[in-house]
Amino acid sequence: MRSLFCSLTLLIVAVTAPMAAAQKIQVSIDVSKPGAKVDRNLFGQFAEHLGHGIYEGIWVGPDSRIPNTRGIRNDVVTALKALKVPNVRWPGGCFADEYHWRKGIGRERPATLNPNWGGVIEPNTFGTHEFMDFLDQIGAEAYLSVNLGSGTPQEAAEWLEYLTAAQPTALAKERAANGHPAPYNVAFLGLGNESWDCGGNMTPDYYLDRMKLFSHFVRNFNPDQQPDKPKSQQMLKIAVGPGGAESRWTDWTESIMKAWQAHTWSWDIDGLSLHSYTVVKWPPAYASVGFGETEYAQILKSTLEMKDLVEKHSAIMDKYDPQKKVALVVDEWGGWYAPLPGSNPGFLVQQNSLRDAVLAALNLNIFARHADRVRMANIAQMINVLQAMILTDKEKMVLTPTYYVYKMYVPFQDATFVPVSFDAGTYTHGDITLPRVDAIAAKDKAGKLWVAITNVDPNQSAEIELALGGINAKSATGETLSAPKVDSVNTFDAPNTVVPKAFVAKAQDGKLTLKLEPKSVTVVGVEQ
Ligand code: AHR
Repeated sequence: MRSLFCSLTLLIVAVTAPMAAAQKIQVSIDVSKPGAKVDRNLFGQFAEHLGHGIYEGIWVGPDSRIPNTRGIRNDVVTALKALKVPNVRWPGGCFADEYHWRKGIGRERPATLNPNWGGVIEPNTFGTHEFMDFLDQIGAEAYLSVNLGSGTPQEAAEWLEYLTAAQPTALAKERAANGHPAPYNVAFLGLGNESWDCGGNMTPDYYLDRMKLFSHFVRNFNPDQQPDKPKSQQMLKIAVGPGGAESRWTDWTESIMKAWQAHTWSWDIDGLSLHSYTVVKWPPAYASVGFGETEYAQILKSTLEMKDLVEKHSAIMDKYDPQKKVALVVDEWGGWYAPLPGSNPGFLVQQNSLRDAVLAALNLNIFARHADRVRMANIAQMINVLQAMILTDKEKMVLTPTYYVYKMYVPFQDATFVPVSFDAGTYTHGDITLPRVDAIAAKDKAGKLWVAITNVDPNQSAEIELALGGINAKSATGETLSAPKVDSVNTFDAPNTVVPKAFVAKAQDGKLTLKLEPKSVTVVGVEQ
């Protein structure tokens, strides 16, 4: 009897499982209703003086035997150029509110301390000129965070004059003497960092009072960035925004936006930042490698909260800024896990797995869907820290699964969002149920349609039937990223465990059928 029951059960499983897998997911794309621009700045990066993010990750010094250009490692520059990094936020993070720029220019660089991140020596060998050189080498724009916490408006104002003045002021001459006669371009200015916490534990009102001073006095003198130039060329100022969904954070957004609505000529902001890490609980306890499906599902459930967070703060911003002049700038986000065993806990070292690739794609999709308000984002962080693009160990370098997602998403930079509708289905593990697939689409400047589809389900492939109303598609080509396990990682010894593969889908009767591997991210361009 028992064996008859078992055979019957097996038979039912055998009959139902392939049917479930074979069920096609219908995705339709409506190119006739273009949405907002998916600003390239959504793919921004964050590089803080923290652990080996700057020192060893970017800067090895001109005398290093690691191949470098003026002290900046060549392998890292080559890898980052392929991502078309739009902007880099620097020098922090918490570090920014204790950073004094004068210590990082000229021949004599005093050693200071980095109390936030391990209390290590900060040699100041990577300073303003080295950062701007790095940006120049990778082709990115500067997002400087000024020290609003322990610095003064005067110190920050002088930094900006040093960087941007074209006239022969003493500071401009000092810049020229230090090797850069032409004024620098500073695209974005962060007015403090987490001023409600490591940036000075301020109340919204106290922050507003200080922020207005910095907004007014910290001027950009670059002739190419003056108010008579197009807005896209001017320096945009980004105020400290919320760090979560609770009332403490909604109150913060209310206060800043209410003040902004009544702002006068003497101060303004163009963006409000939002910081949100996928961490589940503090202190970060999830392992970045060596985990299973339960942790995969839990982390992805948590990361999807980004949607509600963005919508909650956007709704408040809409009340005071219905024209969406002030952007929501998610300038710190990503997975934050337990430090790798044996690493300095203050260095925030973690591995980067296939789970992070899926996490990155899901967040980028959320940002793109809210691109009318979310016009900039910076993943934390670029190299060797938290959810990094790149890991280095002395002369060795490895590209992470997150790096490959950013590379695959390059066609979305400055593309026009196109609405996609689909019934995502569900993926269930234990008591967690998640959407099984996620998809976005956008048209690039040349008119080519790009589609990104993530199969969240780690166990089942997904067959997608893509209907492209109005487009006579022949095929779709691109890349897909998956790996044997949810915690598969790239290491210095095995760097190709999680790398994209070429992907082709043929069209039939105007529809494309895409067969996606379990736990995969796929980006295709539609060929007509
Ligand atoms: O990215 C690490 C830290 O996280 C940043 O310095 C800080 O702004 C945030 O709390």
